[in-house]
Amino acid sequence: MTKLIDLKKRDSKLIEECAEAIKDGKLVVLPTETVYGIGANALDVKAVRRIFEIKKRNKNNPLIVLVSDFDMLDKIAYGITDIHQKLIDKFWPGPLTIIFNRKNSLPDDVTGNLDTIGVRIPGNEIVLDIIRKAKVPITAPSANFSGKLSIIDPKLAYQEFNGKVDFIVDGGISDIGVESTIVKVDGNVIYILRRGKILPEDIEKLGFSVRLSDNIPSKGNKHYSIGKKAILVTGSNSIDKITNYIDNHSSQKIGVIGFDEHYTLFTEKVNVYIKMGSVYHYDAILKNLFNTLNEAKEADNDVFLIECLEEHGIGKLVMDKFRAICDNEII
Ligand code: TXA
Ligand code: MG
Repeated sequence: MTKLIDLKKRDSKLIEECAEAIKDGKLVVLPTETVYGIGANALDVKAVRRIFEIKKRNKNNPLIVLVSDFDMLDKIAYGITDIHQKLIDKFWPGPLTIIFNRKNSLPDDVTGNLDTIGVRIPGNEIVLDIIRKAKVPITAPSANFSGKLSIIDPKLAYQEFNGKVDFIVDGGISDIGVESTIVKVDGNVIYILRRGKILPEDIEKLGFSVRLSDNIPSKGNKHYSIGKKAILVTGSNSIDKITNYIDNHSSQKIGVIGFDEHYTLFTEKVNVYIKMGSVYHYDAILKNLFNTLNEAKEADNDVFLIECLEEHGIGKLVMDKFRAICDNEII
């Protein structure tokens, strides 16, 4: 039986109940500021193994961990340098997962036998309450089955994980809507292993040199499949390109993932038009991205044409996610 717990009001008895469950080795789907995660006591091997089973996750793909303070960080990680400290001071609590050397207090199963561990203090008060009460580091892989979209809506988390985990915490819709930025420090260089809301330029502002790297254990996982063909429509004449595509593919059930402002242009001509948000509000497009993609996954059509955002800042981040589902199909 899975128990749904509404923690939007941060009721202290319910927080206690969740913390106890974590300490008892139970699995609790939790809100974070980025996306929903599967929480368990990171020091409990059995609980950790259950996460891998439920997610159908490759054993070599390590979990990341959430802590509530530096004492807890010290118990699982070592070799924290001035550079790490500057990143921590600037971005924690928040959506920056930092890779540290790991201590042996953590079971090998958590780290996929790596000698490093990804950690952050999350910027979500509900999950922080639970970690503080449980007094143990909590695992936080995204709450989705491997290869499926991440989840930002507790209702969807319930749909997917009811009967599979012990508790699901409703903390409302996730604030950010995309997984944390992951970084690793090497000498004086900060490598970004996964892009997220904290952008390369945000880190460069601290005076560091930043490089992108795809050297991540989950590399090659096709994380953002919507289960059907998707095509990115590039260039300033995207409206003409979409119109031409519709005219030339009358036998296909066509969908568009486009700006709110273009809805009236296409809605009558296509099978489904999914509004991703306003052309003027990229943050809102990001926040809603996984809902948009889930809607696309559920829709009954053959192909999606996707409008492009401008490739800077948040726009670039959203475009990376779109490219991941388009498999290089571009017109
Ligand atoms: O925002 C997030 O980070 C969410 C929330 C729920 O915390 N969690 C999340 O977890 O996205 P997951 O498991 O879906 O993605 C973690 C990524 C994986 O790609 C994994 O390969 C990588 O982090 N990773 C974990 N440990 C690592 C390590 N020691 N070195 C390099 N990459 C690591
Ligand atoms: Mg994930």
